[in-house]
Amino acid sequence: MACPAGLRYARPMLAARADRPEAVALAELTTGDGVEQWKATLRAGRRLLIGVAGGSGSGKTTLAHHLAQTFGDELSCLVMQDSFYIDQSARFDGDGGSVNFDHPSSLDFELLEAQLRALRAGQPVEVPHYDFATHRRLASTTPLASRALIVVDGTLILDAPGVRPLFDVAVFVECPEEVRFARRLERDVRERGRTPDGVHRQFHRQVKPMHDAWVEPSKVHADVRVGGLEPIAASMQRVLARVSVDERLSAGA
Ligand SMILES: Nc1ncnc2c1ncn2[C@@H]1O[C@H](COP(=O)(O)OP(=O)(O)O)[C@@H](O)[C@H]1O
Ligand SMILES: [Mg+2]
Repeated sequence: MACPAGLRYARPMLAARADRPEAVALAELTTGDGVEQWKATLRAGRRLLIGVAGGSGSGKTTLAHHLAQTFGDELSCLVMQDSFYIDQSARFDGDGGSVNFDHPSSLDFELLEAQLRALRAGQPVEVPHYDFATHRRLASTTPLASRALIVVDGTLILDAPGVRPLFDVAVFVECPEEVRFARRLERDVRERGRTPDGVHRQFHRQVKPMHDAWVEPSKVHADVRVGGLEPIAASMQRVLARVSVDERLSAGA
């Protein structure tokens, strides 16, 4: 396959997901893609929020991790919408479907907004812990120090009116429904202890209708759309190119 200019697929893979190094053929970006220039700009004190939205299973986390890893711990931090679920343990009934985790009201966007504002101001935050097995918000939190590049991953971050305007670059990962479902089925059975039947039911009762009602329409707010099936390096290049034309950034570059 032909490589887009500036990309070398033969370089060692970055582990976009440490738990699944085999998942995607990842390519390291080279200096030709402006990464070094971006590192210099970020080191010079620019702060940049990149939001990565899209349906469940579209490839958001893969792209978000890849962005964060390209810039490293010194320059980047990653915030996951999944940490901000509201505690619904009292109502959860297994696969019975009494809790709709895909509706915006299942998420604490006020807290996410407050934490993103703090990170943008250079302050550390305490990220909540959500336990997917019990659907509880745990008492413990994880401290997260602010970094120049703040990458935010979540299905509904472009729908949430308080969160959306905080992004310097809003990305939406587009991916066909069949592919999203197949990926989700695999993940939920393997990582979240769910049954295939339960995952199927939840997808058709909740994930799909909520996707169609909330996630897909939020795509209009994206600055960049990338394909969840395209090589991740091509998506990265698209995002970084959008960053490069952002006036707020180039003014300080
Ligand atoms: N660009 C891509 N090409 C091929 N597979 C991908 C791509 N992006 C993600 N995947 C795979 O799809 C699955 C879901 O990706 P993930 O990033 O976890 O999605 P999301 O966070 O949107 O739910 C993972 O197995 C991942 O390795
Ligand atoms: Mg994810």
